[in-house]
Amino acid sequence: MAELLIGQVIAFDGDPFTEGPAAARTWVRGGVLIEGARITAVGEAAALQAAHPGAHVHDYGAALISAGFIDAHVHYPQTAMIASWGKRLIDWLNTYTFPEEMRFDDPAYAAMIAGRYLDLALAHGTTTMCSYCTIHPESVDAFFSAARGRGMRALAGKTCMDRNAPDGLRDTAQSAYDDSRALLGRWHGVDRLSYVITPRFAPTSTPAQLSALGALWAEHPGCLMQTHLSEQSDEIEWVKDLFPEARDYLDVYEAHGLLGEKGVYGHSIHLTARERDRLAETGAALAHCPTSNTFIGSGLFDLQGLIAAGQRVGLATDTGGGSSFSMLRTMAAAYEVAQLRHVALHPAQLWWLATVGSARALRIDASVGNIAPGMEADLVVLDLASTPAIAQRSVRADDLWEAVFPTIIMGDDRAVTAVWVGGKLVSA
Ligand code: GUN
Ligand code: ZN
Repeated sequence: MAELLIGQVIAFDGDPFTEGPAAARTWVRGGVLIEGARITAVGEAAALQAAHPGAHVHDYGAALISAGFIDAHVHYPQTAMIASWGKRLIDWLNTYTFPEEMRFDDPAYAAMIAGRYLDLALAHGTTTMCSYCTIHPESVDAFFSAARGRGMRALAGKTCMDRNAPDGLRDTAQSAYDDSRALLGRWHGVDRLSYVITPRFAPTSTPAQLSALGALWAEHPGCLMQTHLSEQSDEIEWVKDLFPEARDYLDVYEAHGLLGEKGVYGHSIHLTARERDRLAETGAALAHCPTSNTFIGSGLFDLQGLIAAGQRVGLATDTGGGSSFSMLRTMAAAYEVAQLRHVALHPAQLWWLATVGSARALRIDASVGNIAPGMEADLVVLDLASTPAIAQRSVRADDLWEAVFPTIIMGDDRAVTAVWVGGKLVSA
């Protein structure tokens, strides 16, 4: 049976960074028609109701209906250690992250955290994410099994590390290649799942491992490849020491076959002019992780400059370096970081980044990230007056964006009224 969701609706006809807020289409009393797993129509609620009298109506009143949020870079295994105190990147990895990731050699623990993470993501309105797993192949099986069981579009890969990580958390160049290849064969293209080739970052891979994963990517060019790039100054210095022959950090990846248009480079804060040009030329994607970049003290991503230069940018929590599961909170942090660079992002730009922008970065924008006929029906419905503080501000709003902005800045999972995944209501 067809389902008709009624409420305020946001969709995008274009890119608000190049076309301004008019790139968004909004309906005050709009409708989204779902048949099976897909959206088949969007428009005025009354017209859709008249044209589809048999549809089952879900009237959300003044709540906002949007494409579900897409998190372009997250570490699901770091769920239980989010908000760990007082360290910067390398110490944070050694003190908190690696001991936690070690626990994923136990498939039961991996399954428990994968389920916990996905339920938290859905409760926050995130319907798709691109996740790192751990070095353990079981951690990938656990994640994909849990996402598949929930009907979600999800992307993930085995994190590969063969040096500068503790005993028990290292693979080898050969086993990283073999395990990644086997996992890719098992999961890529199954239901709504995609495998992502995942060297953690240059310092934790030998040149041999980077080359092996570069070779695997060349054999499977349809896959994404994700890694970290230029997050903190100490890390960049370390990469210089480890790879003295490289022109810069990005060149390490390029020299090993790990630069391409299907690459997704997390953080990318402290880029040289050459790196920026090369990334733009390649058409690679960058994952902006603003809560992580402030929480771990990494720096201020140049969102405006990079987008103006034509870079493909997605928005990401980077949980648990990031301090929240919420893409609303992540949009707020992106706004604050841009303000520190003297740029005020429009709410339409923030919303676009968390939906269409992330989908473009992950090359899934033909399927998800927007509301249009033919798109998969992954939706979030948000109460724009979810707390007394937000309600008393939004009641004064003169237009939709002014009503949405307090939820972007002060909202969290309390704002999430309903989540639809693949045309099915998963939370009411
Ligand atoms: N660089 C390498 N690994 C990580 C990680 O797990 N989190 C963050 N924020 N940066 C990294
Ligand atoms: Zn990360």
